This record gives sequence, structure tokens and C-alpha cells, in this order.
Amino acid sequence: MAKFYKIITYGCQMNLHDSEKIAGMLEDKGYLTTADDNKADIIVFNTCCIRHTAERKALGNISAYKQFKESNPKLILAVVGCMSQQPEINKLLIDSYPFIDIVLGTGNLAAFSKAIDAKLRENRRTSWRRLDEKPIIDEGYPLVRTSGANAWLDITYGCDNFCSYCIVPYVRGRERSRDDGLIVKEATALIAQGYKEITLLGQNVNSYYYNGVDFAALLERVAKLDGDFRLRFLTSHPKDLSEKVVCAIACSEKISKFIHLPVQAGSNKVLASMNRKYTREHYLSLIEMIRNKLPKAGITTDIMVGFPGEQDKDFQDTLDLVRQARFSSAFTFKYSRRKGTTADQMEQQVPEDVKKARIRELISTQNQITLELSKDYIGKTVRVLVEDKSSRAGNTLCGREDTGRLVNIEDAGSRIGDFCNVLITHTKASSLWGRVASE
Ligand code: 5AD
Ligand code: SF4
Repeated sequence: MAKFYKIITYGCQMNLHDSEKIAGMLEDKGYLTTADDNKADIIVFNTCCIRHTAERKALGNISAYKQFKESNPKLILAVVGCMSQQPEINKLLIDSYPFIDIVLGTGNLAAFSKAIDAKLRENRRTSWRRLDEKPIIDEGYPLVRTSGANAWLDITYGCDNFCSYCIVPYVRGRERSRDDGLIVKEATALIAQGYKEITLLGQNVNSYYYNGVDFAALLERVAKLDGDFRLRFLTSHPKDLSEKVVCAIACSEKISKFIHLPVQAGSNKVLASMNRKYTREHYLSLIEMIRNKLPKAGITTDIMVGFPGEQDKDFQDTLDLVRQARFSSAFTFKYSRRKGTTADQMEQQVPEDVKKARIRELISTQNQITLELSKDYIGKTVRVLVEDKSSRAGNTLCGREDTGRLVNIEDAGSRIGDFCNVLITHTKASSLWGRVASE
């Protein structure tokens, strides 16, 4: 009889990609995917803990499965990923969530298959959280890809930066770069399989280094592979993004003219306290360098408000930087205290109502800029990789153009998975709208 699995993923692209590895392990064991709880033999929560809200959401959803498990005692429930890597949450899940069968941190996902066997054969409950320095899943495991025409490709694991607010180095371990030969081999195979976009993934791709090969060299090698594909990468750290990388982007038609460059704050005092290791002047000089070499590039960012000690004048510096940088869009966050990080110990935590007012002002400032930049696209033809049905309207499809902007395409027919030239006709909020241009 067929056996089914369902994976519920929280958080970022790395987590979505980890879920593809978990799906690979499950399909290797003969399970098939389902979206239906009632049909599932195993449900996996792949969790995130970057902010308190992410953790609260996952814990809330997991608790809601208590009764469901009581009425389906054979159902296996597993909680894996960043949230369960933290000692206190791991313990909480084991002690107070007896209906959960498997609790594995990011460091032990490779043992997931064994944990299922232990449950099925001996009805044994598994909990591990030892963070070893190995990859999350053994190299070469079959993946079940879920991101359409895009394929994620890990180039580094973990992070060494220890930004004072961030829990990632504690839950994903030290930075390890993967063998460049393996990355190029995997990219070649993905292109041969028909993937139209490859996204190189790492917490800080710019610090990639393996046996004399740096990130710029790796980017050039992958971009030189034969085939019709687009190359992207996430995420860049301003202290490590080099001119060499920007030149590599400028020199290749295949590399997307898009850089996600989290700034976090615009005040030098706050940046120093965050341990970001760059100043606002350095950041703005990077933006200038990028604009010189890639005049049309889309630059996006992450910004946090309400970091401990952030005063109104610091926040004004952030707004000023946003106005100067003219990002295509920004992911904005209220600082969230994370146990074990140095910022959690800092005095002068900012009250919630101040954080709320600041994020509102920040979003409205950025939205205005996004809107102004959008107008420049009207009447232009852009090359879009059609990814999906748009959530906006009936027959509309959507995808991203070369500078990273989301484009809704009316009457795109059955072009999902293909590149398509689109004439931009109008804009709505942060998205561009257009129709297929004659080819
Ligand atoms: N609180 C709020 N936002 C955070 N981020 C990371 N840690 C925290 C935190 N403790 C944000 C940063 C990072 C993005 C992935 O999440 O902006 O770039
Ligand atoms: Fe966290 Fe900083 Fe590493 Fe990004 S670079 S994952 S914000 S510690």
C-alpha cells in the first residue's frame, strides 16, 4: 500500500532546499508526497528560529497536531531544522510534546532516515541535536526539487560572522565551503535536466573559498557552462562583496543583474554594535561601485529596526541610507531577541511600540522608492523566467526578470518554465505587469 509524507517548511530558501533533501530521503524509502494531512503517514515540520515570531508560529502549528495524532496514533510526527537545534527548544519538544516522534536539529538531519526506521521497527522516539560540522545531509543524496524551473545549489553551509543579533551561527555551525568541482558537476547536471535557473546558496556566498577558488572564480566557471540558463546567488555580505564579483556579473549574460545585499542598519553606531564589520560609508560606496559597473542592477536588502540602543537619530540614518541607496525592495524586520546571542544581553532594548512606528515609516519610505523605480520599466521589454500562476488574477502567470523584479504576465499561455520576453504595460504596488512581446 502506498505511503505518504507531507513537509511543512518555515523560513528561508536554505530551509526550503533542506526540505527538498528530506523529501529525497523519504521518497528513497518509498513514500509519496501529499498535501493532505488525512492521507499522510508522516508529517515533517522543518522549522526556523531566526525571529521569535517564526518560532511561535511553528510551535503553535505543531501543538495543533496533538489531537490529530491522538486520532491517528500510527502517524509519525517529526520536528527538524533550526528551531529544534536550540538546546532549550529541543528539550521542550521532548519533555512537553510527547506526541512528537522525532526531534532532530540541523546538525543531524542526515540521521532522519535512521530515526524513521527506529520508530517503525522498535517504536523508538529519537532526539538528537549534536551540531557536527558535516553537511546537513550527506553529499550526493537524491533531492526532490520543488522550486519549478529554479534549482537551488548549496555552495557553503553555516556562518562564521556572528552578527550580534543572529542565531544562525549557533544553529547551522561554522562556515564550510563545498568542493568547487562538485558544485560545477551538479550545475552541469541541473542544466542538462532542463533547469532554467540555478541559485547558488550560502549565508555569505562572498566568503566562499575552496582550494584556491574564490566566489568570483566559481561564479565565472558556472556561468561559462553551456545551455540557456540564468545564474543567481544568495546572500551577499557587504564586508565581503568584491569588485571582482561585480565584474563577473557584468561580464556574463547568464548572471542575473541582481544583488541581495543586506545592510541591516544605516547608523555606524548600530552597525558596530551589530558586529557587521562595515560602515554606512563603505556600504554606500559599494552601491556606487555596483551602479557604475551594472547601471540597471536590482539591489535588494534586509533592514532591521529597534536593535538595542537604536535611537531616533540612528533610525534617521537608516532612512537616509534607504533614500540614497534606492533599493528595488527591502525585507524589513523588527529586532527580535534570540537566546544565546550577544545582543540579547545588551541593555537599552527598544520598546515594541517604537519598533512598530519605525518599521511603518521604513516600509512607507521604501514603498515610495519601489513605486518610483517601477515606473522606469513601463514601455520596456524584459526577459522573464515564467515560474508560476500569479496569485493576483485568473489566467495571469508570473516570474522574475533579470534584475529580480516580479512580473505578472497577462495571457502568457502555457509558458511556465520558459524564458519569455514581456512588454511592461503598467505597475501595481511593488509588481510589474505586462504582456508577451512578439519574439
Ligand atoms: N531579529 C530580527 N531580524 C533578524 N534577522 C536575523 N536575525 C534577526 C533577529 N534576531 C534578519 C536579518 C537577516 C535576515 C535573514 O533576518 O535582517 O538578514
Ligand atoms: Fe546571521 Fe550575520 Fe551570518 Fe547573516 S552573516 S547568517 S545575519 S550571523
